[in-house]
Amino acid sequence: MSVEKKTALPPRIYLSPPHMSPAERELLLEAFDSNWIAPLGPHVEAFEREFAEKVGVKYAVALASGTSALHLALLILGIKPGDDVATSTLTFVATANAIRYVGANPVFIDSQANSWNLDPELLAIELHEASQRGRPIKAVLAVDILGQCADYDAIQQLCKQYQIPLIEDAAESLGATYQGKPAGGFGEIGCFSFNGNKIITTSSGGMLVTAKKEWADQARFLATQARDPFPHYEHSVVGYNYRMSNLLAAIGRGQLSVLDERVHRRQENYRFYQETIGTLPGIVLAPELPAGRSTHWLSCITVDPEQFGATREDIRLALERENIESRPVWKPMHMQPVYSSFRTRGGAVAERLFVDGLCLPSGSNLTTADLNRIVEVIQSVGETACVSSQPKSS
Ligand SMILES: Cc1ncc(COP(=O)(O)O)c(C=O)c1O
Repeated sequence: MSVEKKTALPPRIYLSPPHMSPAERELLLEAFDSNWIAPLGPHVEAFEREFAEKVGVKYAVALASGTSALHLALLILGIKPGDDVATSTLTFVATANAIRYVGANPVFIDSQANSWNLDPELLAIELHEASQRGRPIKAVLAVDILGQCADYDAIQQLCKQYQIPLIEDAAESLGATYQGKPAGGFGEIGCFSFNGNKIITTSSGGMLVTAKKEWADQARFLATQARDPFPHYEHSVVGYNYRMSNLLAAIGRGQLSVLDERVHRRQENYRFYQETIGTLPGIVLAPELPAGRSTHWLSCITVDPEQFGATREDIRLALERENIESRPVWKPMHMQPVYSSFRTRGGAVAERLFVDGLCLPSGSNLTTADLNRIVEVIQSVGETACVSSQPKSS
């Protein structure tokens, strides 16, 4: 019997895996031993306090997910069934889903080419035309995509002009800044995610932040089944089971204490990619607004196949063959079967990013050897493309 020789694959490099330190383990065990195994407890309160301080916002409410934070934000700001809410088309589906949870309609706005975030010029046109049509936009839900804040000077100005609330979906951008201020504080309400792939994680979790005590109280009330203040269970409005567990808050506290280091490491990854593959013809790293500082939660590139000689899908498959995970940039919401019938302003920039954009491994625990493995694959795709595109000698 012949024994087939199998070459073992090198260990898998993931796109954005969790990065824990001993502090998280200790805090988790302490929470476990204290028997506060509940969606309330001392770690929840401490995590909220420490998080609010870090983000520079007065109040923070720890929740089960970023999606639940977005849902509660829309409810608290009074968005009703049939209302129109302007949002980025280039985002993760949770942003649009939250708008639908309250029965409102997303109006998708294209990305600006220099940040990939919601284009304020298109937003201005949409706000103006919607008012002219007699059906004004009721809120703006701006997304800070891939680690970078949206262009808030312009967006805040527009929300002020039209007297509508701004919600900031900062799920992907904890630790980023814009005009020197931390992500999360630019809207009436800001929302964060601690999902497993985020810059810090509690496995699943989220945070709602706001400067208004009344809204923070309302978020806590709605997130705990809207229980009225009686000794028995009394309810006068529909509530949700959206609070974060004390165990997960313990992990969150440990993670928050190393946030700056995590941000720094991801920014170093970006710089490494910039210096190695960013110089290859046809490869451009995701741009940064001069007014902001991205965490580069995910380091992404665009690939011009004419110049590079291969597509982003060629690169993705080559990486996959080497057991390296990468992922196309978000497929815009207006291209998703579930959302293609909703109004969209522009769309060509986000569509192009979906075709040419690729998110590379970006974890804060990537080693230099990992990074070298990744860039070597990409460089070799480029070199092979160069060779195969050279005219053959007769
Ligand atoms: C832009 C954006 N919004 C919202 C969410 C939802 O967060 P969660 O997964 O914690 O519900 C995510 C990520 O997961 C996201 O990337």
